[in-house]
Amino acid sequence: MTNSVRVRVPAKVNLALRVGGTDEQGFHELGTVFQAVSLGDEVRATTALPGQFRLSFLGEGAAFLPTDDGNLAIRAAKLLARHFERTDVGVSMVIRKRIPVAGGMAGGSADAAAVLVACNALWDLGATRSQLHDLAAALGSDVPFLLMGGTAIGTGRGVDLTPVLTDGTYHWTFALSHAGLSTPAVFKEFDRISAPRPTEIPAELLEGLRVGDAHKVGAALINDLEEAAISLQPTLAHTLKIGLEAGALGAIVSGSGPTCAFLAGSDGHAAELAEALGVFSGVRAVRRAHGPVAGAQVL
Ligand code: C5P
Repeated sequence: MTNSVRVRVPAKVNLALRVGGTDEQGFHELGTVFQAVSLGDEVRATTALPGQFRLSFLGEGAAFLPTDDGNLAIRAAKLLARHFERTDVGVSMVIRKRIPVAGGMAGGSADAAAVLVACNALWDLGATRSQLHDLAAALGSDVPFLLMGGTAIGTGRGVDLTPVLTDGTYHWTFALSHAGLSTPAVFKEFDRISAPRPTEIPAELLEGLRVGDAHKVGAALINDLEEAAISLQPTLAHTLKIGLEAGALGAIVSGSGPTCAFLAGSDGHAAELAEALGVFSGVRAVRRAHGPVAGAQVL
């Protein structure tokens, strides 16, 4: 039996994020298009004594993250062990962070997805994709997509996924913000300032993805949470403007923000955008990535 497993997991950007009304539990009905991008975290999981679940972080923002049950990664490992009634397992996990923390790119959800895949292999559970999907959906709305990867439409809370046919590679530049935003706070601000929106995905976006037309995709990017994120962090409006003036094919707040995503026509173009954005004082750092890429995978 293996006693150590490494898993790589991508971040996500929402090419469309339409936000409708709320259900009985206060969750919003979503119509979204996720794309998995090459900015990713890596989880190393090593066997530990039965009942021991340990977590530590390396990399950016690592010092500020909880390492107890307050972290979705620990909850993912425990949920998997409980689901398979395995009281004889334990795990020690080290997560190397590259995905910005509290950035709207699903970093916490990505780590949870990676832990499900890692512990499934480490403990030799033989879970099916569908079992992992259901456990992922119980952990959070973005977790199932990070298992799947690629490009997919998400409906309901965001967990009902349908893969989208796409052509080509999309080049992204991401502008990271100095402070994070809490997802529940952004949804709350959306409820305060906006009425629920229709949750349809723009047809031009799906058509652009199908034929690999980055200009068409860029023009069709839409995020109903953008106004709420900007209301909480007004600097984001400037960040988006700088990217557009530097020639981005499209500019959008990623998910609930505050990371801003800029679509470029090529890798070189993404580097130019990064240079223009990097000098703005409202931007903490810039990152480049491409998509779509695979979901959480054992290395
Ligand atoms: O599912 P997850 O735990 O990632 O969601 C975080 C928060 O985002 C929820 O507590 C809720 O406030 C908000 N949310 C929502 N509707 C969704 C998904 C998330 O209101 N479909």
